[in-house]
Parts: sequence; structure tokens; C-alpha cells
Amino acid sequence: MAQILKTGEAMERALALLEAGEVVAIPTETVYGLAGDATNGEAVARIFEAKGRPRFNPLIAHVSGLAMAAGIAEFDRLSEKLANAFWPGPLTLVLPLAGSARIHPLVTAGLDTIALRMPQGFGAELIARFGRPLAAPSANSSGRITSTTAEAVEADLGGKIKLIVDGGATQVGLESTIVKVEEGTLRLLRPGGIAAEVIEAAAGRPLVRGAAGIQAPGMLASHYAPCAAVRVGATDVLPGEALLAFGSDRIKGAERAVATLNLSPTGDLREAAANLFSHMQALDRSGAKTIAVEPIPPSGLGEAINDRLSRAAAPRDVSWDNP
Ligand code: TXA
Ligand code: MG
Repeated sequence: MAQILKTGEAMERALALLEAGEVVAIPTETVYGLAGDATNGEAVARIFEAKGRPRFNPLIAHVSGLAMAAGIAEFDRLSEKLANAFWPGPLTLVLPLAGSARIHPLVTAGLDTIALRMPQGFGAELIARFGRPLAAPSANSSGRITSTTAEAVEADLGGKIKLIVDGGATQVGLESTIVKVEEGTLRLLRPGGIAAEVIEAAAGRPLVRGAAGIQAPGMLASHYAPCAAVRVGATDVLPGEALLAFGSDRIKGAERAVATLNLSPTGDLREAAANLFSHMQALDRSGAKTIAVEPIPPSGLGEAINDRLSRAAAPRDVSWDNP
């Protein structure tokens, strides 16, 4: 079973495990990550193995700052501006891989681009101390709900990894927003913890949805799946259903829900994002066959919340995973 250590006491043990090519679950401000040395192929392979990921999708390499990032990827002006504006924070930039980068090709799945981000808190400190980038997908088994607490990581991956660093519930609750500058066009590859509108304001140009070229390969239809079926945009609660509520007004039949959790009683999208995955997990544990989800506004962080919910609701018979 995994050892669980609080952030204040975990640093040395985490460093020793990473040096040995092991993986460590760490908190970031977005979600928990399953981290390994991005320059060590065996460590990266262990990440895929622990997640039970069916394919080698490319991973995000986490850095301690722009200096480390500049040794890994070629920054255009706009990407550099965005890194300066949002790092450390929930923004991932996809950039051309630098020829001299010592990143193992399993991280990029052999692509000539790499996804980079600088996390906040324990992760940034760990990477700075380690001196090398850490590959880290979300710390969940492939296809399962993303973990936003150490307890959720333990329940899912505790039997497969040696250390979980416990930093409490993550602040943002959604994975990072992924963008890519392509021939001067700023593309949104995955909505996430920073609202698209906020990035557009900093960039001074629109974010183009619908990626040309390579999609974020994790963006398969069904993803983030609880055991229960998920019904989004529900206007009523059917017998036997659990209810994932939002705001102060309840939909028809809400009183008959077998379990109810509210993402944000005041209708605050930031609070809703932070609660999304843990509430889905808790409703899943209620044993309900279906979780009805009240409508969530589409703007701001609502874009990423609705994205995750619609993936959780997608049919499961297709190949799916949550990288
Ligand atoms: O907040 C986050 O981003 C979390 C925390 C742990 O940092 N990490 C995370 O990683 O969500 P992961 O592996 O679950 O998602 C990485 C996403 C995938 O959808 C992958 O396809 C995409 O990034 N990606 C990675 N490299 C890429 C590349 N070169 N081009 C396009 N997409 C890429
Ligand atoms: Mg994931």
C-alpha cells in the first residue's frame, strides 16, 4: 500500500523515489498528478503502467519555471507572454520540442511537440529541487474520475504506487487549460482551470476552438467516467437517480433523488469546478445507477465543467480513457 505523507514532510522521500525512477502522486493546484522523471523512460513507462493506460498518449511535462522550459521547448513570443502571465498556474502550452531537450520520447509519444506547464506549490518546489522536469498525468486509473484529494488517489491507485503526497483538496479542481500557438493562431486544445476568456484577454486575440493538426489525444468522447451513467442538462430527476445540483433552484423531482450534492449553492463556477470530481465520486458511491446533472452555464469555467460532464456522460462502448 502507498505511504501517505503531508506536503510538509514528504519532500525527501519524494525526491529519493523520483531519483530511483519510481512514480509519486503529488498535489498540484489543479488535480493530483502521477509524477515521474520525464528524462527516464522506465519512470515514464511506470506512469502508464500504474494508470493502466491502453495507449501511450503524450503527457504534460511539468517544469519549475521558464528557464527549465526554455531548455525543453522553443518558445514563440505569444507563448512566452502567456507563460509569464499564467505560470505558475493551470495553463499548459504545447510547443515545438527543442532539439537538445533530454525528454524521453514516451512523454511526447514520439511527437515533435511537447506540453509544458509550471504547477503551483509542492510540485513546483519538488521539480526545482529535483532539477529535471516531471511527466505527470492526472493521478487516476485510465478512464476513471480525476482525483482531487489524496484519499481519492489512495482508493484508486494506492495498491500500485509507493507514495502519495497529501496536500489536501486541490484548489482549482479541474485539469489545466491546454493551448497551442500554430502559425500565429492561438488554439484551445482542452478547456480547463483558466477560463478561455481570461487567456484571450491576456493574449489580446481570440482562442480558436476545434484544433487543427493533432488534437489532444486524450480528448476521446468518453472520459472521466464514474460507474453510474451520467445525464447532463437534466430538467427533472427520474426515480432511482442521484442529483448533481448547481445553484439555488432545484429541477423537477429533486426531492426524490436518492442522493444530492450541490456543486455550488450560490452558483459560483469556481466553487463548482473545485467540487466537480469529488462530488461525482461521492454520488457514484451512493450506488445510484444514474446521476442527473442540473444545467451549468456555458461561459467562463463553465466551459471546462460542461466539457468534463459531457465526457462523463458519453457512451462507454467506445474506447475511452482519462489520461
Ligand atoms: O492540470 C493538469 O493538466 C494535470 C496536472 C497533473 O498537471 N495533468 C493532466 O495531464 O491533466 P493528462 O496527461 O491527464 O493530460 C494531458 C493532456 C492529454 O489530453 C494529452 O493528449 C495532451 O495533454 N497533450 C500532451 N502532449 C501533447 C502534445 N504534444 N500535443 C497535443 N496535446 C498534448
Ligand atoms: Mg486525466
